[in-house]
Amino acid sequence: MYESAEKLTEALAGENYVIDHDFAVVVHLATHLERPLLLEGPAGVGKTELAKSLAQASGRRLIRLQCYEGLDDSRALYEWDYGKQLMHVQMLRDRIGELLSGTTTMAEASAKLQAEDTGLYSEHFLSVRPLLETVLSEDPVVLLVDEVDRTEESMEALLLEILAEQQVTVPEVGTFSARRAPWVVLTSNDTRELSPALKRRCLHFHVDFPDVARETEIVSRRAPEVATDVVGDVVELARRLRDMPLRKAPSISEVIDAARAAAVLDQGAGEQVRKYLLAALLKYSSDMDMALRRLDGPPVEEPEVEIADDSGWVNRSSRPLNTTSAAFRGRGGGSASTSAGRGGRGTGRR
Ligand SMILES: Nc1ncnc2c1ncn2[C@@H]1O[C@H](COP(=O)(O)OP(=O)(O)O)[C@@H](O)[C@H]1O
Ligand SMILES: [Mg+2]
Repeated sequence: MYESAEKLTEALAGENYVIDHDFAVVVHLATHLERPLLLEGPAGVGKTELAKSLAQASGRRLIRLQCYEGLDDSRALYEWDYGKQLMHVQMLRDRIGELLSGTTTMAEASAKLQAEDTGLYSEHFLSVRPLLETVLSEDPVVLLVDEVDRTEESMEALLLEILAEQQVTVPEVGTFSARRAPWVVLTSNDTRELSPALKRRCLHFHVDFPDVARETEIVSRRAPEVATDVVGDVVELARRLRDMPLRKAPSISEVIDAARAAAVLDQGAGEQVRKYLLAALLKYSSDMDMALRRLDGPPVEEPEVEIADDSGWVNRSSRPLNTTSAAFRGRGGGSASTSAGRGGRGTGRR
């Protein structure tokens, strides 16, 4: 437990995680109040990394539930271990034979067997999955429910019991309550709106791309071998790219890769190396074309494009208006020559 947001900030810095004040206050509150923390925002802004760094810094074990389409309770909660149950029955075969020896009809034998407790539905035969593992853990844990927006909404309902009550119910066995209150971090890349029921149970924070100063600090910490002026050049290049309506804006990890690439090439982000850095920063050839055109020439009106994210294609019109990641794909309210639009919630086009 951290006494204050400042102490938490220091502890995370020890893991090379750079957090700004408002974010630190919310994380501090979540750990103090033992409330789940829901982090929403575009891909690559450090949501998953926050959970990992928090676990590292606090010495808590990290339990991760990676969400995907089709995730179900047998992967998230628990599953009965049929193989083990079968073995158990085989080992009991002689005893079962004895037990049923006096019976004459099938119905009689079946009724007798049902009256016995064979112990097949007990904790011992459960294959424990992340959510159950969390409540059973003897040590304090950080539970990371990653990319919850990738699952169907029905899956969210499964999370509610652990989020609100810190417990998991296995109908055949009973309810397991967490031995030590877990710190729960949920992340969402904003590809769909999460259910109000889930949101109600969490503290919420929207993580945005950092400003230049903070991104410079992040990249310097994560790639300490890169000279400061090179980091500055690459961060500035990424900032300019994020002001363009790209299909995929560069994430922080791509900026770190580009800074490393610049160091390997032993130059800043000047003209000659820029196209190699763009290869680290951009993932679509159409984005590359646009970047090369715009970086050199005057601003041009570009046609509407679809936006890609990690989970596939998202049509602009299908993205809920109250999500902000669009701002970083070039639809921010700021103008191309200032950084005012980055981090803003505007949806207007230049
Ligand atoms: N605040 C930060 N401090 C340090 N590194 C960061 C920070 N934010 C992002 N990163 C870097 O960016 C990478 C991608 O972040 P990640 O947490 O995977 O993004 P997200 O989960 O938001 O998609 C991390 O592995 C880390 O190297
Ligand atoms: Mg993530």
